[in-house]
Amino acid sequence: MLLDQRQLPVREVERACQRWEEVADAIRTLAVRGAPAIGVAAAFGVALAARQSRAATYEDLRSDVDVALKGLAETRPTAVNLFWALARMRRVALGQPDAPVERVRARLLAEARAILEEDVAANRSMGEHGASLVPDRARILTHCNAGALATAGYGTALGVVRAAHERGKVALVWVGETRPVMQGSRLTAWECMREGIPHRLIADVAAGSVMARGEVDLVVTGADRIAANGDTANKIGTYSLAVLARHHGVPFYVAAPLSTIDPSIATGAEIPIEERDGGEVRRVGGQQTAPDGSPVYNPAFDVTPASLITAIVTERGIFRPPYRFS
Ligand code: MRU
Repeated sequence: MLLDQRQLPVREVERACQRWEEVADAIRTLAVRGAPAIGVAAAFGVALAARQSRAATYEDLRSDVDVALKGLAETRPTAVNLFWALARMRRVALGQPDAPVERVRARLLAEARAILEEDVAANRSMGEHGASLVPDRARILTHCNAGALATAGYGTALGVVRAAHERGKVALVWVGETRPVMQGSRLTAWECMREGIPHRLIADVAAGSVMARGEVDLVVTGADRIAANGDTANKIGTYSLAVLARHHGVPFYVAAPLSTIDPSIATGAEIPIEERDGGEVRRVGGQQTAPDGSPVYNPAFDVTPASLITAIVTERGIFRPPYRFS
């Protein structure tokens, strides 16, 4: 069951997936989004593929699962959590050639559940570590949605905010609306409303102005992929915020689980950046705001160089530059 994030904040609609193809479609169309949530959903997609397969032999089940592994890997390119979760599921599938097919199915489901539970635990731990960076009466700026919706629960960047809020440290959260898909205004503001976290929505273009007025004490965002040197891909607009934060002397933190770190990639230059349909930029909330056919460049993510990142918060603790992930 997935909460269909495309319909928020207007409607809370759950979407049942019986087949891996439906999970792949949900990921591709952003019904489920956010790096860790994509990974968890894909893991359950693989478990569904094993369940929907009628294979009676290990070889046949493996070949059905392989099709799903490939199809799910093609949904979105940037968040490494997707490939990390699929690699875990592949290892489980490969690791038991002599087991009866029912046992392989059960183990795949158990692995998906483990990935989900570990993600919630990692977020809570990140919250603990991250809250120690937050001063009293903090005014925190965040971007996109890196909350419970983007994970298996609690959140990464918004998990840090939640943990700080639980300790009474949060005066205000500035929520950037996050054009063009509006994950900030549609999802982060929705989560803040539900959690009773004091927040104020701003157009992305207002971020520099609130920093210049001295009204931001720290910025915290999530991540979709972190290279070995700490360069970080996250939602488009994150890089601009990091540049602004540096200019105004505001600390810029990234909160992400270890499953978001890709040590196989040396620098951010190698991170594949998803480009999405131009229609997302030509319309706002379904309303046309640009001439038909106007050419559009619509990268979904950008890369913030490690040199602009004050610290990276993970479930294992806080990393400071120079970053060397292995
Ligand atoms: O395109 P999206 O909505 O999947 O992008 C999400 C982000 O960029 C998040 O900030 C990131 O995945 C971290 S989520 C904990």
